[in-house]
Amino acid sequence: MGTPFYFPTRLIFSRDAPSDLIQELGKDPIPQVLLLTDRGILASGLVEPFLKKLNGEGIHATVYSEIPGNPNVQELLPAYEAARQASATHVVALGGGSVIDVGKGVGILLAHPGFDWEDIQWHRTSLQRPAYPVIAIPTTAGTGSEVTKVAVIGDHTGFKMGVLHPFVFTRSAIIDGSLALSLPPRLTAATGMDALVHAIEAFTGKRASATTDVFALAAMRRIVNHLPRATRDGRDLDSRQAMAEAASWAGIAFDQSGLGLAHALGGPLTATYHLHHGLGIAVLLPATLSFNYPAIPADRWEALRDALGMPGDSQPADLAEWSRAFLKDLGMPTRLSEAGLLKKDIPQIAEETTRMAMFGNNVRAASVPELIQLLEANF
Ligand SMILES: [Fe+2]
Repeated sequence: MGTPFYFPTRLIFSRDAPSDLIQELGKDPIPQVLLLTDRGILASGLVEPFLKKLNGEGIHATVYSEIPGNPNVQELLPAYEAARQASATHVVALGGGSVIDVGKGVGILLAHPGFDWEDIQWHRTSLQRPAYPVIAIPTTAGTGSEVTKVAVIGDHTGFKMGVLHPFVFTRSAIIDGSLALSLPPRLTAATGMDALVHAIEAFTGKRASATTDVFALAAMRRIVNHLPRATRDGRDLDSRQAMAEAASWAGIAFDQSGLGLAHALGGPLTATYHLHHGLGIAVLLPATLSFNYPAIPADRWEALRDALGMPGDSQPADLAEWSRAFLKDLGMPTRLSEAGLLKKDIPQIAEETTRMAMFGNNVRAASVPELIQLLEANF
């Protein structure tokens, strides 16, 4: 069987996202827009230039901002209801991964009236037709959700079961690093680390290919150069734009090649403690590298080492220590207890990890006892 590479989203690398949004909508007759965002973004004033531009063009837009981090189906359904009441023809998702994932979910539900999201999630029913058009405008450089065919929305218990289907791809994504200029250092570092782990897991995962390597390695190079700069000086527009583009490259890579153990562990870890996705993933990186490094194929090591900017005499065994130093430089925690992990929860998190979709793609197979040991060793 051949290796497919399918990516239908129109990417617009932008220096003026409101104008580019009008361009994207302008292809359709009289759009009715549901603009999804979250309270923080609304309060920051980022939404206003978009509304002003839409109003100026005579395009009606309804704003819905009740989207929390780590959204579950309980939070998706009111957003869908808002779209229905607004007779939305288009969904514009202005925000981080949570907002964009809800946007993708709303686009799918608008095209499937009467369908139950959890039935779709658990494969009790299948999608019949393309989603309503979703235009993603990321305000953080991290999740890559704008370029992936997965909508990660928890079920009613909070279990992170993504809906993965080609119909989930957004129609367009507008990549404008200036939208992240006011993102605080802590969130810049956490979201940027998420993107770095996407690239590392895409490169080391079992389904990596020569094509996904192109995106994954380029993303790593850019992120190790620009994330420390964007974290130290949030107003550095060049680094913000570089990070925005690299996060999308990492997203394109992992969408095709899958993720690995940091994300498999990260699902239950972030759900248990309502942790920020990027923070949870970042703190898991040293732990998973210390487990994975013996399985990294020798003929892939040099490319990985060079993309991460590690010295020429480094060995795979140095990866975990390298990642700890990188995290420390960003002011981020390196131990799991610093991210809120409690010892009593380790067995359950280990068990739930094995049910995560990306678990099987990890470069090294892990058993539940090995996961418990890994979590305890990095506590
Ligand atoms: Fe992620």
